[in-house]
Amino acid sequence: LRVCVCVSELKEAQRREQQRRERLRQEEEISNNTLIWNHEILPHWDTMKSSRRTRDLWWGGLPPSVRGRVWSVAIGNELNITAELYEIFLCRAKERWRSVGQSDVFDDSPGRSSLELITRDIARTFPSLCVFQKGGPYHDLLQSILGAYTCYRPDVGYVQGMSSMAAMLVLNMDEVEAFISYSNLINRPCQLAFFRVDHQQMLRYFRCFQVFFEDSLPRLFLHFQSSGVTSDLYLMDWILSLYLKPLPLDVACRLWDVFFRDGEEFLFRTALGILRMHQDELLHLDLISIAQFLSRLPDEEHLSDRLFSCIPATPMLSGNRKWSQVSHLTDRPIAVQEGNRNKADFVFSRLRF
Ligand SMILES: *[C@@H]1O[C@H](CO)[C@@H](O)[C@H](O)[C@H]1NC(C)=O
Ligand SMILES: *[C@@H]1O[C@H](CO)[C@@H](O)[C@H](O)[C@H]1NC(C)=O
Repeated sequence: LRVCVCVSELKEAQRREQQRRERLRQEEEISNNTLIWNHEILPHWDTMKSSRRTRDLWWGGLPPSVRGRVWSVAIGNELNITAELYEIFLCRAKERWRSVGQSDVFDDSPGRSSLELITRDIARTFPSLCVFQKGGPYHDLLQSILGAYTCYRPDVGYVQGMSSMAAMLVLNMDEVEAFISYSNLINRPCQLAFFRVDHQQMLRYFRCFQVFFEDSLPRLFLHFQSSGVTSDLYLMDWILSLYLKPLPLDVACRLWDVFFRDGEEFLFRTALGILRMHQDELLHLDLISIAQFLSRLPDEEHLSDRLFSCIPATPMLSGNRKWSQVSHLTDRPIAVQEGNRNKADFVFSRLRF
């Protein structure tokens, strides 16, 4: 017995030593990469951003200390938003909130309803981090960014789920930078289509996704079809939340890294990666179980590594056509046939925010 104990103790000690070495190696790699990003890539962004070496490093995940800067330059500022502009819209938002506070409870102005939505959503934003809730260090900051945006873009306003997106930026950047990135991010065609519930455009994305889904995972595609699982059922949440809803924060962070490298195509490629990863389970589930399963994916050890090995296994090619080419082909008005009408109505009856 004594020998046994010694052997198992020895094994345990060896295992721990190995883990310690692996952790040290990872830390060293992160600090090596941080130097490369800070000294070689970021100062020469325009020439370096598309190089093979940069893209490879990027795929492996950004070091946390440079993440915010890389996201910010990768998102860019097409809208030319300045710090002054942010201040102006923030002041407007604060004025509006003050007047909401003074008016009576039966007031149903847009200012009031968006403030209520924002307040409710902030309370539910990454509750486990305890930084965005009332009294937390980032509460006011997050509220400011969301409020200023509703004044800047009243045509988009506040849509449920935007809060976690902004929070993710707040965790990695300063206030003005976060507002700039947030506004420019929402202004991307795919995000704008989903946040404004632009049916035509959303259907175009769903249809394009279906083409690649059928090509890369034909068995699962058929199973979903025969079970009545339409792609909007899971893609809506995945795209709207940029994967913050179905996946743990650290995995979502790594997905965001590559999303900012590759653009909207990567969001749909990720969806195929997730479906591939869980294909064996999904093939045995029915409509309701599939919907539940995909709305919050199982957390597991090394989830991020597993997912990132499933994504490249799913090339976005249909025949020889790439995402942008197929997306262009599906870019025509939809002729809603009688048979499809009910389905389309069903899809959009679920889109209530
Ligand atoms: C980090 O950089 C040093 C010096 O260039 C190198 O010797 C070392 O192997 C690197 N470590 C890792 C984990 O990449
Ligand atoms: C931003 O500035 C650039 C260069 O000055 C200009 O070409 C572009 O039209 C501006 N965009 C917007 C949305 O104002």
